[in-house]
Amino acid sequence: MTTVEAPAKSRAQIKERTLRKDNWRLYPVTTFVIFTAWVVYATVRAFWGAAFYVPEFHYLTPFYSPCLNEICNNVTVDGHTGDAAEFGTFLPAATRGWIPFAAISLPFLLLFRLTCYYYRKAYYRSFWASPSACAVREPHGKYTGERRFPLIGQNLHRYFWLAAFAISLINTWDAVRAFHGKDGGFGIGLGTIILVANVVLLWLYTLSCHSCRHVVGGRLKNFSKHPFRYRMWGWVSKINQRHGMYALITLGSLVVADLYVALVASNTISDLRIFN
Ligand code: FES
Repeated sequence: MTTVEAPAKSRAQIKERTLRKDNWRLYPVTTFVIFTAWVVYATVRAFWGAAFYVPEFHYLTPFYSPCLNEICNNVTVDGHTGDAAEFGTFLPAATRGWIPFAAISLPFLLLFRLTCYYYRKAYYRSFWASPSACAVREPHGKYTGERRFPLIGQNLHRYFWLAAFAISLINTWDAVRAFHGKDGGFGIGLGTIILVANVVLLWLYTLSCHSCRHVVGGRLKNFSKHPFRYRMWGWVSKINQRHGMYALITLGSLVVADLYVALVASNTISDLRIFN
């Protein structure tokens, strides 16, 4: 008769922290540095309250979109005046420096990324050492997973995805507006290309989300009766394989887009014009 051993109630008692010989610290340390630098940059810029819009070419940084402060209207840069606000300005000018101009979108975008499967893996490893890497013992005494408060809130990711989808539409509109020339007609500058590239990457990140994959192809008994959804599911599954990469790249593209707009809006550099 075969005896089946009961699952161990405690963790394996191994003296060494890990038997791994490779440089397993590289991933958590690099992630820690990149994420910390990004959060500092994004926080400073979100509360800065200046250098967010180039009226001449309609360049609006994604960190201020949608722009809801009274200051978003009548922005003057280099002799040109324009409005960055397209969805109302219900934040009084006095809140500048205290409340980000994009107070409606930023919290959702933050929660969307915070609950993203990729970021969860990344910050569990690099900030909480839970664990730092595969086959490396963690410092915590016990593991409760994501079954309790506050981590049970990670389940809200699917709803934050809906908000992120709507915000990506707004960012798309910002990119379309950036095709604006010197004489008021059609024009393309380096800023246009940067904002368009950023929005394309944001869409790739948003649409490659695991929740999106479920929205598109989940809860179906068979695909044969839903050929369109099957097609979409196949496409989302394809880009889903690179979701982690898009998560990282968009951190960079957001900074590049914001920095470029900030430099042009503060007259530090001039926009490189390609057409008009
Ligand atoms: Fe990363 Fe949804 S899993 S955005």
